[in-house]
Amino acid sequence: MSSRSHALRMAEERDLARVFALARQDGVFASMEELRDAWARAPWTVQVSDAGDVALLDRWREHLPLVAVNALWSPERSVPSHMTALRAVARAHGFDDVLSPFVPEELLDPYVRAGMRVVHTGVTMALRQHAFIASAPVRGVELELADESVLEQLLALDIECFSDFWRYDVRLMREYLGSDRTVIARHEGAIVGYAMCRIDRGHGVIGRLAVAPAHRGHGIGGLLLGDALGYLERQGTQRTVLYTQADNEQAQRLYARFGFEQTGSRKHLLAFGEVDTEKSVVPWSHVVR
Ligand SMILES: CC(C)(COP(=O)(O)OP(=O)(O)OC[C@H]1O[C@@H](n2cnc3c(N)ncnc32)[C@H](O)[C@@H]1OP(=O)(O)O)[C@@H](O)C(=O)NCCC(=O)NCCS
Repeated sequence: MSSRSHALRMAEERDLARVFALARQDGVFASMEELRDAWARAPWTVQVSDAGDVALLDRWREHLPLVAVNALWSPERSVPSHMTALRAVARAHGFDDVLSPFVPEELLDPYVRAGMRVVHTGVTMALRQHAFIASAPVRGVELELADESVLEQLLALDIECFSDFWRYDVRLMREYLGSDRTVIARHEGAIVGYAMCRIDRGHGVIGRLAVAPAHRGHGIGGLLLGDALGYLERQGTQRTVLYTQADNEQAQRLYARFGFEQTGSRKHLLAFGEVDTEKSVVPWSHVVR
């Protein structure tokens, strides 16, 4: 057994190579430059121990005072003390709380022992074999490939479609518009829905699917999903996965219709304090006209 310390500390230059070896394996950072940039911007977001533990942190959303632990590599017995230490790191940088990584059911215990509680439960769904399912066209709705020029409209649409906890901030939306194939649905010129997908290590990922509340139930979600799956199939992917809230029955029904099935165990996000993942605060610009 190693006698080196498990206590977390801010990473130094000499630690980055071993951090990257783990981060690449799990797809957290695609390149050493990406990791180096994140570390240079905020060195406290890369925490390591001399014994080999690594934690990668990031702001959860710009509009919320929460830090996310994007990944934690450590022996199970060290998880409670690491999470307590990471909460202290988050607080020292002006945040209220720290979120766990997405934790599978069977690994919940050490987080609960740290004093954390579940604030979200989600499921992974997978489509094992792409079968062509034609989505019916929707009258008056056109699909269009999108780029960064629709950033502001998608941020506004996200406010309508998701709670504050889940909606993207400018940074995330820009990042995903850069990395994911994004398709928007237009109705009378207005953007009423969008879907994002990408190919990650050979399999398809549906990253986002949203339709404005006033336009739901007319087939737009199905149209967007069918288009994304058609694209992923043309790219040669055999399997596509997505992640959704365990209680989002509406979305799960839609995914099931396309052949998606739940896989593996549920995943949880935990926090030390109260975190409301359902609440939406309507921003003043949407109230004052
Ligand atoms: C999930 C979501 C994208 C679905 O979008 P949508 O446009 O309502 O999807 P559809 O219209 O294709 O399907 C919804 C229902 O309308 C039905 N429908 C579709 N076209 C129809 C039509 N012409 N007439 C009547 N019903 C119709 C579908 O059969 C489906 O019924 P079901 O709920 O019994 O399965 C939307 O509810 C949403 O944005 N939710 C919030 C964001 C979210 O949760 N995203 C997924 C996160 S992973």
